[in-house]
Amino acid sequence: MSERPRIAVTRAIPAPALDLLRAAGDVWISDLDRPLTEPELHSAVSGADAVVSMLHDRVDTAVLDAAGPSLRIVANVAVGYDNIDVAALASHDVTLTNTPGVLTDATADLALGLMLMLTRRLGEGERLLRARQPWSFHLGFMLGAGLRGKVLGIVGLGQIGQAVARRAAPFGLRIVYTGRRRAAADLEAELGATHVSMPELLETADIVSLHCPLTPQTHHLIDAAALKAMKATAYLVNTTRGPVVDESALADALADGSIAGAALDVFEREPDVEPRLLEADNAVVTPHLGSATVETRTEMAVLAARNVVAVLSGEPPLTPVAAR
Ligand code: DGY
Repeated sequence: MSERPRIAVTRAIPAPALDLLRAAGDVWISDLDRPLTEPELHSAVSGADAVVSMLHDRVDTAVLDAAGPSLRIVANVAVGYDNIDVAALASHDVTLTNTPGVLTDATADLALGLMLMLTRRLGEGERLLRARQPWSFHLGFMLGAGLRGKVLGIVGLGQIGQAVARRAAPFGLRIVYTGRRRAAADLEAELGATHVSMPELLETADIVSLHCPLTPQTHHLIDAAALKAMKATAYLVNTTRGPVVDESALADALADGSIAGAALDVFEREPDVEPRLLEADNAVVTPHLGSATVETRTEMAVLAARNVVAVLSGEPPLTPVAAR
């Protein structure tokens, strides 16, 4: 019988990460171009010492029981870990790691891209040309909203929220933010960011950009009441997790003009998207591309692999998630 640890990887990962894992143990990796079903996941993790999971894998007590007592680490290839039952891992003495830091820039870049797409109506313009609609330049044609002097409301001033603020300043956006904790005074000064309450942010922001993690407290944080509290000229941008926004309420708000538009990179029931959002001309929708660059996805997978290697060799993990 092999002494090498067994490592289960639930979906394809970039080669440099796979090489690290193969040097550390016997790797089973899914060759399916889709998430594993629950029974497939249970059978994949059975007897594993380490599991490399994706954000679409629900890792709960049933998965831990299916893995058995050999399991020492679940390395989630994402900064978000709302797919993991953190308390269950802690009670099974299994280390959980995520991939903070390495995807900050890519996600912040995408958030700014979505703001520009939305406020300058780039999706609409592209659809118009592809539909071969007649058009001609005139001074009132397809006007959007400029950014200079507008207020960007950042919900959650963590690493990604801060990176968004840094990118937004050169566009002339004024930053207000809200979150569980107030940032240190020097960070506020560096970002030119003013702390406000959530109601004040909703009332004053011209763009509301979501960067808080998905938790029971932030589930449907943007619901019908929050959308009503926003200005009719305001835009919503979501690059964090779909369930932070009530998609059905958002579709209503976009249809009745309660807000001007929304750009979503994440959805409540991925990969499904509320059909009314797909029909809405004032919605920009992209398929969870926040971290989707070759460099970033490679760094994420390598960081997850390094966490696995560390724990299997008795070292502390690089980026552990503490049970709260
Ligand atoms: C994450 O890491 O949580 C992101 O959603 C992946 O793009």
